[in-house]
Amino acid sequence: MLSRTIELANSIDLAGFRQAARQLLAEHVPPEDVTWTLSYQGLGDLFAEAPSKAAMTRLESASAPEAPPPKVPAFFLPLCQTAILHREPRRFALMYRLLWRLQHQPGLRHDTLDADRSALEDLARVVRRDMHKMTAFVRFRTVADEHADGPLHIAWFEPDHHIVETTAPFFQRRFTNMRWAILTPERCAQWDGAQLTFQPGASRDDAPPADAGEGLWLTYYEHIFNPARLKVKMMEREMPRRYWHNLPEAALIAPLVAAAHQRSGTMIEQGPQDMAKRLPKVLPLKVSAPAQWRSQPGQGARTTMTLPQLRAACQHCRDCPIGGHATQAVFGEGPVHAALMVVGEQPGDQEDLRGHPFVGPAGQLFNRAVAELGWDRQQFYVTNAVKHFKHEVRGKRRMHKTASQAEADACLPWLEAEITQVQPKAIIALGATAARQLLGRPVTITQNHGQWLKRESDGVPVLITTHPSALLRTQDDARSAAYAQWLADLRHATEHVPA
Ligand code: URA
Repeated sequence: MLSRTIELANSIDLAGFRQAARQLLAEHVPPEDVTWTLSYQGLGDLFAEAPSKAAMTRLESASAPEAPPPKVPAFFLPLCQTAILHREPRRFALMYRLLWRLQHQPGLRHDTLDADRSALEDLARVVRRDMHKMTAFVRFRTVADEHADGPLHIAWFEPDHHIVETTAPFFQRRFTNMRWAILTPERCAQWDGAQLTFQPGASRDDAPPADAGEGLWLTYYEHIFNPARLKVKMMEREMPRRYWHNLPEAALIAPLVAAAHQRSGTMIEQGPQDMAKRLPKVLPLKVSAPAQWRSQPGQGARTTMTLPQLRAACQHCRDCPIGGHATQAVFGEGPVHAALMVVGEQPGDQEDLRGHPFVGPAGQLFNRAVAELGWDRQQFYVTNAVKHFKHEVRGKRRMHKTASQAEADACLPWLEAEITQVQPKAIIALGATAARQLLGRPVTITQNHGQWLKRESDGVPVLITTHPSALLRTQDDARSAAYAQWLADLRHATEHVPA
């Protein structure tokens, strides 16, 4: 049998591979007679041609009618979709060999330990890990390019495999309302707020140098670095050294590690009485969050940071798991010394996508009430008790889920830091979560709405009222009475609204 050379359009040309593989199977060409190459040897020119135009330049029967698709088990295509992104040059040969064997050995589809299948699964696993690392270690730097849609955020990253196109949609979802570009040596991804596009690779020098934004990120990293939790081996496993040269915070690791050893040494020298002294303060709190999440109203750990610093740092918060699933943190907004602060529960779907509090249906109802009361929302500082959108995906919809007490407590230092910075004269708590987090105890809305309750920590009065989402859920016949009641509650805060 004549050997065949198949030339694919680029390194991730799955469409070209499938088209060629069908033809080869139809012509009964065994894997050992096929050589797979790329149109641009070496890295492969990812932009040479659209994948569907894959060339089969030396396949004798290139002009033959298109062969029918072979029958493959369900695992095969998803496996190829991921494994093809690996840099391993033999991946195409491996994919075709498994495909060939699946056609000729019917029992093979059930053999999960087969050597070819395992080899492809190993490639796919490495690719998935690389994708995960990219989502975790891309660090944007802000470039003020005076664009009407805000500054551009640029990151430099060096992936091990051909993962940029497949991983870029993650950043599109996460940073929907930011303009950003991720530069890599092989290809670049760009999001302009509406369209995701890809360009040829760039050089490290094309990425901007460190800027103020990065300075903020470093400050935050220093803040959250907890010596008691320091596990160098685990840190290296999660954040492998080869990524460190692109991570601003990596420059801090060596001094922080050294300082951590010194600090733990001091703690040991000081002896157990120090710990014993601390214990009674912690125990009566009765919060369910792990110790490192704990904070009491009025004792925010981030109180030394300004609001812009807090807003930037909050984007990186992973003190609880919610942030890992949200598009972005939605921080509070409004004048820095607003007399009145309004606190909701957590951002909803719209807020999560747009990055601003109370812009979805609940926000619209709130705006309506504010207008009817003759107030101006621009005068308030509006925020939430929880800064990330907790949800579960049902079909195409993302359904709101209430944050657990532990998760809300993990977020409390951000809220307390906002209160410290804004120093409001009064706060409106919209709903039970806001009331409980502001007052440090459960508050029943039906019993306390329209009342001012004082925060123990700083004496700031908190007006308790219903959350607008609860009004939206109210039955039609009861809604207008509930709305009127809500307006009456809110009106109590009029004296704190600047005329
Ligand atoms: N619900 C809230 O509690 N906050 C928002 O920002 C939006 C909806």
